[in-house]
Amino acid sequence: MQKRTIVALPGDGIGRVVLEEAIRVLDHAGFEAGYAEGDIGWEFWKKEGDPLPARTIELLEKHKIGLFGAITSKPKEAATEELDASLKGSDLVYSSPIVGLRQHFNLDVCIRPCHTYRGNPLNFIRRGRGDTIEEPEIDVVIFRQNTEGLYSGVEWTNPPPEVHRALSLHPAFRKNFGHVPVDELSVSTRIFSKEATGRILRAAFGYAEKNGYKSVTVCEKPNVIRETSGMMYRMAREIQAAEYPGIELWNTNIDAQMMWLTKNPEDYGVMVAGTMFAGLIGGLGFACSANLGEEVAVFEPTHGSAPKYADFPVSIVNPIAMIESACMMLDHIGEPAIAGRIRNSIARVVSVGKVMTYDMMKLKGSAEVLGQGAASTRQMADAIIENL
Ligand code: NAI
Ligand code: MG
Repeated sequence: MQKRTIVALPGDGIGRVVLEEAIRVLDHAGFEAGYAEGDIGWEFWKKEGDPLPARTIELLEKHKIGLFGAITSKPKEAATEELDASLKGSDLVYSSPIVGLRQHFNLDVCIRPCHTYRGNPLNFIRRGRGDTIEEPEIDVVIFRQNTEGLYSGVEWTNPPPEVHRALSLHPAFRKNFGHVPVDELSVSTRIFSKEATGRILRAAFGYAEKNGYKSVTVCEKPNVIRETSGMMYRMAREIQAAEYPGIELWNTNIDAQMMWLTKNPEDYGVMVAGTMFAGLIGGLGFACSANLGEEVAVFEPTHGSAPKYADFPVSIVNPIAMIESACMMLDHIGEPAIAGRIRNSIARVVSVGKVMTYDMMKLKGSAEVLGQGAASTRQMADAIIENL
């Protein structure tokens, strides 16, 4: 059989380090693949004025599967300042390449599983009756709509006349904003389409059904954000009734839901929300994710490039989020046995508790943590490899 090619997108900062370690784990676990490196991130913004060069898009078009570390993003003005001298004064505007990738390939279904590793000192605990401490087992899988809502990129500062005029169409709009001078307005819109809303809801229900979860919780804010959240709730009810009567549907308000998640996280299974309203449980060092489109899929840890730890001579960050993301990739491409082996190995390393990165030891991140018994990024990956 021909070896599969995975597009490796290291990006910036710790993304580069954790991706390298994840690939080492994949190799040792017996996953046979070649890796084509794709340019993405800050370096390419500064040098070329494009953090997501066309050649990277082409690589993904060809190979379909990407494994992504993390990128550094900065606000518009700061980005312009860092452009190479030869590009200064052009009308280039920075935008996040991972958001760009999701838009370009319509990677509209984002899956973020959050589950407890037994023995992880970072596990959620709470006080029970008397002096007892409870440590519930959490298994929540969050589905986030990835391409629309507040991430659809439909926004203006000093909006054009058509948009400004729209504010006078409705008495309530006019009352709140009709009198504000146009150059004192910024508008970011939250747009939901039925098609994408249906896709994320069906992805969540389908996942719940396939994996034995009893409920799907939709977290939005329909009492305030009536139109977008309202449509999602209505569609969730219709889809549940017509297609998934065996799965319970809980429609909740995002703000209340965040509190319930911190009280009784074990009560929830699959959760679904638009962008901005998808949170997570547990440390960033453990949080993995998948961005799925119809053809292309990109897997990434949910953390960013953590610039403050990027330039340590020996990297201290936890590679598990990246390695878990690689496991999601293996599941997706039909290699669940290798994924299972890697996950078992991570579970063993965490439960034995001898090898822990600084975050697991609840230390403040610094170069000194290695002298205080914390494992480096590489040592953690080595431990996972040894336990395969
Ligand atoms: P971040 O996720 O990079 O880091 C926040 C903090 O979480 C770190 O300071 C560190 O204490 C901890 N942390 C993150 N990853 C860790 C790991 N693997 N092991 C142990 N501790 C870890 O978020 P921050 O600092 O807000 O953003 C830094 C840059 O990353 C920004 O430029 C931001 O735009 C970008 N970013 C990129 C994302 C992506 O690539 N998809 C997602 C989030 C942020
Ligand atoms: Mg990320």
